[in-house]
Amino acid sequence: MVPASKEPALKGQRILLCVGGGIAAYKALELVRRLRDAGASVQVAMTDGAQQFVTALSFQALSGLPVRTSLWDAAAEQAMGHLELARWADRVVVAPATADLIARLAHGHADDLVATLCLATTAPISICPAMNHRMWLHPATQANVEALRGRGVQVIGPEDGPLAEGESGPGRLSEPADIVAALAGAAPAGAPPRPRLHGLKVVVSAGPTYEDLDPVRYLGNRSSGKMGFAIAASAARRGADVVLVAGPVHLPTPAGVKRVDVRSAQQMHDAVFAALPADIYIGAAAVADYTPREPAANKIKKSSESLALDLVRTPDILAEVAASTQGRLRLVVGFAAETEKVAEYARKKLEAKRLDMIVANRVGVAGGGFESDSNAMTAYWADGEREFPSAPKTQLADELVELIAERLKS
Ligand code: C5P
Repeated sequence: MVPASKEPALKGQRILLCVGGGIAAYKALELVRRLRDAGASVQVAMTDGAQQFVTALSFQALSGLPVRTSLWDAAAEQAMGHLELARWADRVVVAPATADLIARLAHGHADDLVATLCLATTAPISICPAMNHRMWLHPATQANVEALRGRGVQVIGPEDGPLAEGESGPGRLSEPADIVAALAGAAPAGAPPRPRLHGLKVVVSAGPTYEDLDPVRYLGNRSSGKMGFAIAASAARRGADVVLVAGPVHLPTPAGVKRVDVRSAQQMHDAVFAALPADIYIGAAAVADYTPREPAANKIKKSSESLALDLVRTPDILAEVAASTQGRLRLVVGFAAETEKVAEYARKKLEAKRLDMIVANRVGVAGGGFESDSNAMTAYWADGEREFPSAPKTQLADELVELIAERLKS
């Protein structure tokens, strides 16, 4: 097992925090504290918009260093010119990254201090998007984010949930603690490139399945699909040809991923097998184990005190894929959501289903599991295991795909 490090996660790092003009700018204040707690020294640069939401003075008090607000400040330029500041940084963090700021970064603008710093730095850049969910999901924003990702920019969040305007959806700034965790997990500058999955086909199943009881009711579960979608997105970013077989979820299709929507376990089974042959199968879906023998043609009436459902087993997609003779498969990965004896049950499943790897997490604990944005999990394979401490699912997915790519090579 990989031991947890006792050193502050960002010890000695010089972080330039660029604050964009959105309501989430107030959370950037806490981010400064968290970054410093993690051992980093922080200098802050603000856009004009950011200064409408929070004051430079607040950032100065928390960072303990002067805050830069303009390209045209002669006194500040004399103390540390903006190019010097861009060189000072070991890494640049943009939080909140608004839709407009992301667009300007994607297009290489240099019309204000923050955009200029991001263009001038050679340090790795991480952006933490925050905006209205419709702006986030707009193809223009998604294309800009993909362009930045393609240039090696780390994208942290956004998270799904209530937004400042009273609506709900993907667009919330990640929590400061999650941003620090994601920064700590990102490869440091100069690290060797991460393993790539170019030329490989990856099939991922995600989300719940719904088993219809009658025309209005179904048996379902609380899987959100977030983990499987994040895995598909990560594999696609590493160059894989990805087919994502998705149960009923409300999540946008990750860029570069071919999505097949299904409802029942049987439909998921058929869609997965239609997507084979593949090099890697990752079964992240929470597939129903039982389905009604015969769904009722009409709505079931409440005519008696109790109702017994006649259920039959669904096909075990994962076990069937692992046993399939479609020769090209090199790695079959399953998931195990357990409420107790996680390691024991996970290893039993690894063997029983003849998997190459199983990823287990404990459900029913606060801050993890099905509906959460964060999770903690452990991957097991025949002669090893790796623990993934609690982190946003997007980060865990990235780390897991990296492990999968490593195991593929070994
Ligand atoms: O046995 P259990 O359902 O706990 O195993 C979970 C793993 O098996 C997950 O990877 C899930 O996607 C997969 N599974 C499946 N088909 C089923 C049941 C589970 O592929 N019918």
